[in-house]
Amino acid sequence: MTDKTNNDNNEPDEIPDRVVGTPTAEEHTVAEAEAERSHEGPYKASETHHRPEEQQRRGEKLASLWFVIAFLGGIGFLVSYFVFGPEEIADPRIGQYSNALLGGTLTLSLFGIGAGMTVWARNVMPHYEVASPYDELPSSEKEKGSFSAFFMQSADESGFTRRPLMRRTLIAAMLPLGIAPIILLRDTGPLPGDKLKVTPWADGRRMVVEGTHREIRPEDLAQDPYGMISALPLMHEEDYGENVHYPHGISLNDQAKSVILLIKMPTNEEGQVDWGEEMTEERRNWTHEGIIAYSKICTHVGCPAALYERTTHRILCPCHQSTFDAANAAEVVFGPAHRPLPQLPIGVDSEGYLVSTGDFSEAPGPTFWDYAKD
Ligand code: FES
Repeated sequence: MTDKTNNDNNEPDEIPDRVVGTPTAEEHTVAEAEAERSHEGPYKASETHHRPEEQQRRGEKLASLWFVIAFLGGIGFLVSYFVFGPEEIADPRIGQYSNALLGGTLTLSLFGIGAGMTVWARNVMPHYEVASPYDELPSSEKEKGSFSAFFMQSADESGFTRRPLMRRTLIAAMLPLGIAPIILLRDTGPLPGDKLKVTPWADGRRMVVEGTHREIRPEDLAQDPYGMISALPLMHEEDYGENVHYPHGISLNDQAKSVILLIKMPTNEEGQVDWGEEMTEERRNWTHEGIIAYSKICTHVGCPAALYERTTHRILCPCHQSTFDAANAAEVVFGPAHRPLPQLPIGVDSEGYLVSTGDFSEAPGPTFWDYAKD
């Protein structure tokens, strides 16, 4: 605010030394700020005064009381988290009490901290205005030198260093809320172990056409050279376990991990497949009569890569157009995927059905696994 009086020419009679809220002409340092606070500047004492000691003491007590309430709320939140076990919470009638307890105590804790801070700011901290100019960067040596003194002075003025009751209760109030996120990590469940790497494919496991119970023989593909079948592992009832309620005795998670593309590769005039250079001797042994099996789950972000271009033997993912070369160990030839589709080793059993002879060459699924390899 300025206290201007205009004369006949609309010129101010008196130009104040300094207008509150505008930058000073000189560099702003602690020494200058100190001078401003000592009421030697253009402000009235009432504008720059510290709170009366009595008011500060009352403010300290009240703020500390709120911090204690916040502390109790935080402890209540942690206790409420353990009051009901996971099975009890699954019951909606009990779950609602758990939610009410957690929500109520957390609200109390946050409200207590907020209320305490407000009381602190209103009754303990001094109130005055300080104008600070936009400084040139980098700061001058003088300004740098004054920073830590300025910081400590501010801490002192705020009451943080001078008022141990308020400081300690504030720290105590924050403590349970600081611990809470660590405890809540429990809700993320047990570590996955090797669950993400292991699928139901195993030595001798037959395969069925996806969505049916029809087991697959090499002839099914031989009759359709260049053909492609989407397949899942065949589970026997004794392997259903807790997945007994799923149509194939295989959970949706396991289906998503284990679904494969069976592809019959075209042969040349000598009846050989023109495999690419990534198809090592070992990988060729994982094929059967030109039939090769790859994970159907795109290694980019996990869409089903279910489009097959027969003439170029390219597998395409419709989501972001990643393209894999089926003749060359499913190497990425285009798109954002970084990793080939994992290959499943296959063969035939004594009854002539196609079977896996082990699990995938690598963990199927998105590029998450690239991080493990780096
Ligand atoms: S999920 Fe396949 S390209 Fe993105």
